[in-house]
Amino acid sequence: MSQKNDKDLYVPERARIVETKEMTDLEKYFRIKLLDREALGHAPGQFVMVTVYGVGEVPISVSSPPNGRSGEFELVVRKAGNVTQALHNLGTESLVGIRGPFGTNFTSKGFERKDILFIAGGIGLVPLRSFIKQVVNENKKYRKITILYGAKSPDELLFKEEMDQWGKKENVEVKITVDKGDPSWKGNVGVITTLIPPLEIDIQNTLVAVVGPPVMYKFVILSLASKKVANKNIYLSLERRMKCGVGKCGNCQIQGSYACQDGPVYCFADIEHLKEAL
Ligand SMILES: Cc1cc2nc3c(=O)[nH]c(=O)nc-3n(C[C@H](O)[C@H](O)[C@H](O)COP(=O)(O)OP(=O)(O)OC[C@H]3O[C@@H](n4cnc5c(N)ncnc54)[C@H](O)[C@@H]3O)c2cc1C
Ligand code: FES
Repeated sequence: MSQKNDKDLYVPERARIVETKEMTDLEKYFRIKLLDREALGHAPGQFVMVTVYGVGEVPISVSSPPNGRSGEFELVVRKAGNVTQALHNLGTESLVGIRGPFGTNFTSKGFERKDILFIAGGIGLVPLRSFIKQVVNENKKYRKITILYGAKSPDELLFKEEMDQWGKKENVEVKITVDKGDPSWKGNVGVITTLIPPLEIDIQNTLVAVVGPPVMYKFVILSLASKKVANKNIYLSLERRMKCGVGKCGNCQIQGSYACQDGPVYCFADIEHLKEAL
């Protein structure tokens, strides 16, 4: 990213919504094009600040992998309050403001020819999808890729067709579970941690990337610890309420760490002392 002065950091760039799709009752997909820049230049796990003009600004993770269509990137937004509701009301051709990309990112550097394990809970699939797609698109560079995904119910599952496509690649395994099934659901039922014990994890050679709701981290980490996965190989994304997104306002602090700059992606070995605050 080019060096910007402080004033520029707060000025949103113009962008246009070029495609939208209703994904579930709560989540909507947006493909967005920057109007004044060739490409967003993000890495997996980073986020942007999205302005809905006249309403406000919210942090949203970039869901598409790097090197997407020129100047375009994808977001998935859950209706939570004022700004996200206003974003849902926008359609194609609407203009929004974009700042970023901001924050730390996931990387598979050092894990070529090794294993990657993704663990996504609920809407955590949205940020993780950027990294999953980057790795799955280059699947031959890795030995084994495993994707675990859990949602509350079958109708809350996101990107089902993509999941099917990923699972068809020779070294990619996708395992999905729901907390509660319905009459049409033939798959696993149970929380996401039920998918971890049967896994054969080569603990020296596996990178684990985890994104999910706060309650999930504690149990996933306990489960990975029982498999003896080293904390230095576990990366997770922590979301905190954010305002500036650039390390100035202090809104996102987790015991002195600024989640917008030191995170959202952390190596668990670096934040083990924050375990209680996760
Ligand atoms: C780095 C980062 C990445 C994010 N990525 C996505 C994404 O890809 N898709 C998506 O739908 N949402 C994402 N969020 C959450 C999103 O920013 C919030 O839902 C949004 O700010 C809510 O704004 P609002 O005005 O609609 O609702 P508000 O009225 O501000 O909030 C509605 C409810 O959501 C809660 N809330 C607000 N912000 C957060 C937060 N950060 N964590 C937990 N609860 C929160 C509030 O406490 C309140 O209960 C991300 C947040 C962060 C920090
Ligand atoms: S959001 Fe302002 S310091 Fe992180």
